Amino acid sequence: MEQLTLLILGAGWTSTFLIPLLQSSSIPFAATTTSGRTVSGAPTIPFKFDPANTPEDELRTAISSLPAAKYVLITFPLTGNGPSKTLIELYNATHQSHSSAASQQARFIQLGSSGIWGAGRTIAAADKEKIEKELAEKRGGDPWVTRHSPINESNPRAIAENELLSLGGCVLNLSGLWGGERQPINWIPRVAATKEAVRGKTSLHLIHGEDIARAVVKIVTAEDGKWENGGGKGERWMLTDGFVYDWWAMLAGWAEDPAGEGKVREQGVWVRELMEEEDVRALPREMEKLGRCYDSREFWRVWGLVPIKILGGL
Ligand SMILES: NC(=O)c1ccc[n+]([C@@H]2O[C@H](COP(=O)([O-])OP(=O)(O)OC[C@H]3O[C@@H](n4cnc5c(N)ncnc54)[C@H](OP(=O)(O)O)[C@@H]3O)[C@@H](O)[C@H]2O)c1
Ligand SMILES: *[C@@H]1O[C@H](CO)[C@@H](O)[C@H](O)[C@H]1NC(C)=O
Ligand SMILES: *[C@@H]1O[C@H](CO)[C@@H](O)[C@H](O)[C@H]1NC(C)=O
Ligand SMILES: *[C@@H]1O[C@H](CO)[C@@H](O)[C@H](O)[C@H]1NC(C)=O
Repeated sequence: MEQLTLLILGAGWTSTFLIPLLQSSSIPFAATTTSGRTVSGAPTIPFKFDPANTPEDELRTAISSLPAAKYVLITFPLTGNGPSKTLIELYNATHQSHSSAASQQARFIQLGSSGIWGAGRTIAAADKEKIEKELAEKRGGDPWVTRHSPINESNPRAIAENELLSLGGCVLNLSGLWGGERQPINWIPRVAATKEAVRGKTSLHLIHGEDIARAVVKIVTAEDGKWENGGGKGERWMLTDGFVYDWWAMLAGWAEDPAGEGKVREQGVWVRELMEEEDVRALPREMEKLGRCYDSREFWRVWGLVPIKILGGL
């Protein structure tokens, strides 16, 4: 069987953008889901990776049954020490290329979140503020965060990613995913339910599914040497669309109630009140008032890409 360019482990939301681009670019690929359902018209292989609850021989059989590919994209989170190593080593051991003398090891790419540079969204608001403050102090008060900034090494996903990096993999730490059905305006009830919640909202960083797909395709179709020479191997990248969005500015922009007739959403009213209370003369707020600000220029520069999907077109 001819070797595929890309094997997607976990064809979820991201793959609804990636699969159409792979198809239109005639890039040979295969994809898995836990159920084996069809994604964007492509059949998928049923595969569930659960090393803690799977006997070793079963795990080995499941991984050896996956097709051989030059690149493997893992979209679901791995946590703690062990799973990254198990997956990479078992895949590598069961997919040695017989066609060439110098057998090529598959290159692993893990999708992660930019949450590791911060406190993470599962942390209670009160603790979050304290943690964000500590992290900012660690950066010497600098609001700017790059892919080289210190991460929370005890975050279970960060531990698994570090293991993957040490085995020559690449991590793409994605900021807020949007596109298709995922529209930030629909996040208002979840993130801005109360005035106090809005008061605490600072920066937002986004990346559109289409730009993630373009980034992955660029990596897996790169010329020889790019992966080893600072492009992929052992590299952790941060992906945003290059904007630091201000939550207050966004809520102000969405102030008109969808019910129309000049009605205003309560979030729009709260933002006006907060501008008075916090002495913010106009929006968007200065970067220094926005907490973490991500600088992701390096990824786009190194890979020679321009993100094309910016929220609202601005
Ligand atoms: N939401 C955000 O704003 C945000 C921001 C930054 C980063 N991220 C991260 O970006 C990554 C990609 O996100 P996404 O939305 O594309 O993910 P998703 O839609 O949840 O897709 C995950 C895929 O992995 C499969 N899967 C899950 N657990 C598995 C396991 N143990 N073994 C094998 N397959 C498994 C799922 O199978 P089924 O299709 O069968 O369910 C699904 O196809 C995730 O790691 C996410 O945490 C998210
Ligand atoms: C992959 O397999 C090759 C050949 O057996 C071996 O030299 C290499 O160390 C393996 N790599 C990993 C990460 O297991
Ligand atoms: C990268 O993504 C993982 C998975 O979401 C996350 O746990 C980790 O904290 C992120 N790393 C950084 C540096 O943000
Ligand atoms: C780091 O992550 C751990 C585990 O998720 C969490 O308990 C801790 O509060 C985090 N620390 C910081 C500074 O984000």
